[in-house]
Amino acid sequence: MPKPVQAPPPPAEAFNKPNASFDNRLRPVRFADFTGQEKVRERLLLSVKAARQRGEPLDHILLSGPPGLGKTTLCYILAEEMGVKVHATSGPVVEKPSDLAGMLTSLDRGDILFIDEIHRMQKAVEEYLYSAMEDYVLDIMIDQGPNARSIRLELPRFTLVGATTRQGLLSSPLRSRFTINARLDYYRPEELAQIVTRSARLLEVGIDNGGAMEIARRSRGTARIANNLLRRVRDYAQVLAGNHVSAEVADKALGMEGIDRAGLDEMDKRILSCICETFGGGPVGIGTVAVSVGEDPGTIEEVYEPYLIQEGYIARTPRGREATPLAFRSLGLDVQTRAGQPTLGI
Ligand SMILES: Nc1ncnc2c1ncn2[C@@H]1O[C@H](COP(=O)(O)OP(=O)(O)O)[C@@H](O)[C@H]1O
Ligand SMILES: [Mg+2]
Repeated sequence: MPKPVQAPPPPAEAFNKPNASFDNRLRPVRFADFTGQEKVRERLLLSVKAARQRGEPLDHILLSGPPGLGKTTLCYILAEEMGVKVHATSGPVVEKPSDLAGMLTSLDRGDILFIDEIHRMQKAVEEYLYSAMEDYVLDIMIDQGPNARSIRLELPRFTLVGATTRQGLLSSPLRSRFTINARLDYYRPEELAQIVTRSARLLEVGIDNGGAMEIARRSRGTARIANNLLRRVRDYAQVLAGNHVSAEVADKALGMEGIDRAGLDEMDKRILSCICETFGGGPVGIGTVAVSVGEDPGTIEEVYEPYLIQEGYIARTPRGREATPLAFRSLGLDVQTRAGQPTLGI
């Protein structure tokens, strides 16, 4: 008798990427399921309608904003709404002009080339993108020395969708070649609650409004974090609370995991503690903050600071960053004045 065939074990990377399939399952595929970001959504929807009416490919689109707000999601929604394919890559992966040439020449008319982290693309590669985006041609040098000559490749009309967390690092020639420049903002708690409610339905766990709001408030304005927290709460609800998430269940589950009530993450707290404790509340320059928390100043400015400013923890002044009373309270500290003295009545 032949031996029964055993299924091979799943590849190791399947275990290392717990979020990949989870994220994909919850990722909205049409504009109708995409909550919030009203202005960006309207703008993109309009472009899709116009392009479809004209029977033309979409214009090039730059999506920027902090991680986890929906840039990748939007790119796939655009493809779905246009009925085209996405060819996805990321800035640091495209090492040589020939890598880019390979990708561009495999596109069909109307396809989307998605370059994530586009600010991390090599300069030498980026320069080839200019003519590809503008004139749909690629001039490639072949051979070297006296035999060197360039050949011109015609490209199909494609759409470049670039995503970046660091819009400020994009060179201006590249930025100006995007017709649409859409910046995503942090979500309001009510919007995150809607996202959580939809995800809970897909994950088949019950949730009420209080439960969704409790998760939303701790999600740092970020859709990805909201979904991740929901997953943790779901385990708790399933085992200990009859598979239903109420405000109390969410609070207990997240409290057990040490998730900050206000949704601040490790780096947020380091930045606040640097300004409040090391520099007595500021003002302190962004460069100094960056050195003392060990992060790049641009990343602090574009990824962390916008949330802290929006939520009123820090203020940007001409003399540097200043902590607000809320920042001190969030660290469990007495509110300090600039001179480092406790103040009364704040
Ligand atoms: N507006 C939204 N509505 C519902 N879910 C969203 C929304 N934006 C993002 N998400 C969810 O958050 C996750 C992270 O979004 P993603 O597009 O990967 O963010 P980014 O590319 O900006 O880092 C997605 O898997 C998706 O499930
Ligand atoms: Mg992404």
